[in-house]
Amino acid sequence: MSDTKHKIIIAVDGFSSCGKSTFAKAIAARLGYIFIDTGAMYRAVTLYALEHGAIRSGIVDEEEVVRLLDQISITFRFNPERGASDIYVNGDLAEGKIRTIEVSNCVSRVSAIPEVRRKLVAMQQEMGRRKGVVMDGRDIGTVVFPDAELKLFMTADPAVRAQRRYKELVEKGDPVTLEEIERNVRERDKADMSRAVSPLRQADDAVVLDNSHMSVEEQMAWFMELYRQRING
Ligand code: DC
Repeated sequence: MSDTKHKIIIAVDGFSSCGKSTFAKAIAARLGYIFIDTGAMYRAVTLYALEHGAIRSGIVDEEEVVRLLDQISITFRFNPERGASDIYVNGDLAEGKIRTIEVSNCVSRVSAIPEVRRKLVAMQQEMGRRKGVVMDGRDIGTVVFPDAELKLFMTADPAVRAQRRYKELVEKGDPVTLEEIERNVRERDKADMSRAVSPLRQADDAVVLDNSHMSVEEQMAWFMELYRQRING
């Protein structure tokens, strides 16, 4: 916070399960910025679609999802215990329900629907209007805030990412296998990069961070150096 001359937008994009949220959250806490997890928003729409019959046996009824969109109100409320905001869908706490394997398996298809992206991108742009945000996602530096002052593109070895997500889910008591998680990670990479609307790609002016073998502390030291250069540059 001390060396912030003015607030900026920090876009953190990259592959799934490479620690984007953990890292973006840590940056936000360090700078006194607001952290916004846009993946949680796509997950929240997917959860609502699952709960309201727009996804059955893994088949996404796109028209039905679009029809439901107007009924979905997404809000964030800061949770001091987590040091981050919890996501609410129509006023109900959804944080714990959006990170299941069921939601993970359907979210790429839901997030490829143009109307879903249009609605969520508009919300994200509004949230970042006053700057001072660290926004994590797939298209933040390319579509949501192409003029963001600092853009990171995070990546890590798929096997390392699968191992991380597996540990997270097992700790929560989810009965998953490492093979299942690795398959999901690879399938989502492919789906996120090949969708027609806002595919995952590195912005030309993004700085790459491969954290396969870096601790959060090491990443933070690396980031703060970059941040100071940008702010003072
Ligand atoms: O970051 P995550 O794994 O929680 O994101 C969930 C899904 O949402 C991911 O498969 C891709 C999609 N997503 C997206 O399309 N655009 C974003 N800005 C954020 C996430």
